Amino acid sequence: MISAETYDDEITLRMLAAASDAYDMPINDLLVRFGRYWIVFAERGSFKFILDFTGQDLRGFISNLDRMHVGVQAVMPQAIMPSFRVAEDTAEKVVVEYRSTRTGLEPFVTGLFQGLAERFGVEADVQHLGWYGDASTFAILFK
Ligand code: HEM
Repeated sequence: MISAETYDDEITLRMLAAASDAYDMPINDLLVRFGRYWIVFAERGSFKFILDFTGQDLRGFISNLDRMHVGVQAVMPQAIMPSFRVAEDTAEKVVVEYRSTRTGLEPFVTGLFQGLAERFGVEADVQHLGWYGDASTFAILFK
């Protein structure tokens, strides 16, 4: 069954801090790993059909991220969704703008993109390029 429950960010942050202590791992490293793990976790469970539906390749999947989150929001009205926009798409790289009401989740996004690259069998480096205006920008560089 899919859980449509949401938690306060406060609880998530406390859990992260506790995990960081328990594993003696910086929170940012934990967030990268959590992002990668989330994709594997979603593939194994009831979220798989959403992943399958969202896109059959990395570029297509990323360009559908907003539509997918809007769809999920319909069944989770309390969720506060991020937004992703493809700013550049070439043979060498995809540049993606990430917008959120939350701060500090960039390492999580890095891990999610790494997990997606793995899911689609693509060898790529994920770089956080920085903040430009209200957007946090990432590059997925194909090897
Ligand atoms: C089956 C797949 C997915 C589902 C069902 C899903 C659902 C959700 C939900 C419900 C939230 C909001 C949490 C809340 O406010 O309570 C969320 C947040 C988020 N999602 Fe997804 N998501 C999926 C895949 C992805 C993927 C592939 C990415 C890749 C970049 C992504 C990026 C994010 C980020 C960064 C957030 C954090 C919220 C923020 O930045 O403000 N999600 N997602």
